Amino acid sequence: MPDRLRPRARVAVFVSGAGTNMAALLYASRLPGVPYEIALVASNDPGADALDLAAGEGLPTFALAHRGMTRAEHDRAMGDAAKEAGADYIVLAGYMRILTPEFVARWQGRVLNIHPSLLPAYPGLDTHARAIAAGDRAGGCSVHLVTDELDSGEVLGQLAVAISPEDTAEALAARVKLAEHQLYPRVLADYVSRPYRADWLLAEVRSRAMALDEVEEKESHGAPGWKLAGKSGKFFAYFSDFHHGGSNIALLVKTSGADEQEAVIARDSDRVFSPPYYGSGGWIGIVLDRPGLDWEQVEYWLARSWRAVAPRRLSRLLDAAEEF
Ligand code: GAR
Repeated sequence: MPDRLRPRARVAVFVSGAGTNMAALLYASRLPGVPYEIALVASNDPGADALDLAAGEGLPTFALAHRGMTRAEHDRAMGDAAKEAGADYIVLAGYMRILTPEFVARWQGRVLNIHPSLLPAYPGLDTHARAIAAGDRAGGCSVHLVTDELDSGEVLGQLAVAISPEDTAEALAARVKLAEHQLYPRVLADYVSRPYRADWLLAEVRSRAMALDEVEEKESHGAPGWKLAGKSGKFFAYFSDFHHGGSNIALLVKTSGADEQEAVIARDSDRVFSPPYYGSGGWIGIVLDRPGLDWEQVEYWLARSWRAVAPRRLSRLLDAAEEF
């Protein structure tokens, strides 16, 4: 999908304090070509300065004090507010609450946090004082995915900030903040763009195709493809990047034949097409670079297609398991 047609990702920012990172994210989002927009600023502290700043900029806000609520109730209400605002991602910007595993599971892979250290060094609090006390030559900041464990999800980006011999924690914190304001908008923009990038989509498809039994990857006419292992093993999937032709990135898989091919395309013509050059073999193309792609559907078709070419010896096991 060409960049100019792509809808911007909607982001809910969770804050507890001053909200300078939220402001950096907001102003960056107003630059041309930035692939995200702020849909909501939400806080556990109704008095947070960040909320005034957001309201002054015309952003929707939501505040809910956590006192008197269980963690699960509060998380759920914050998540519901983000959902209602149409958020695809939640971005924590000085949100000083630990999220429940239920919340993290509900938003899996769609919650980012910024932390004022070069993770994995110094998770938790007092990061600058600890870096100075340890005699480190640099501190910095990290943007990472949020998982169940505090400050330990995949690191998506980092910036180092030099520590000078006479540094105080306050002076270092102020410089790290400047670095945070540069890092966060860039990393967020890259992250929300991933589902449209051929290299990322290929890696996602590859891991799913290779998880099927006795599969090997082989290039075919310049496209990555997956086939049953061995000399006579047939192809069941191809990754097609028509990017340069101005069209889509797609996964090609096999239906049971011409009838099903036609029916599937008729049912879902925005997302499924008949791939050129793939003749009458019942192949369909599933568009991958689009908002809201359903990876379960991709997995379903990979498995179906694998089964269409798998030898009886392998597919029989599956049939037996299904009858069970
Ligand atoms: C930022 O320095 C951020 O890294 C830190 O809170 C500050 C929020 O400032 N976050 C954490 O310590 C999370 N463990 P801000 O409200 O001005 O953006």
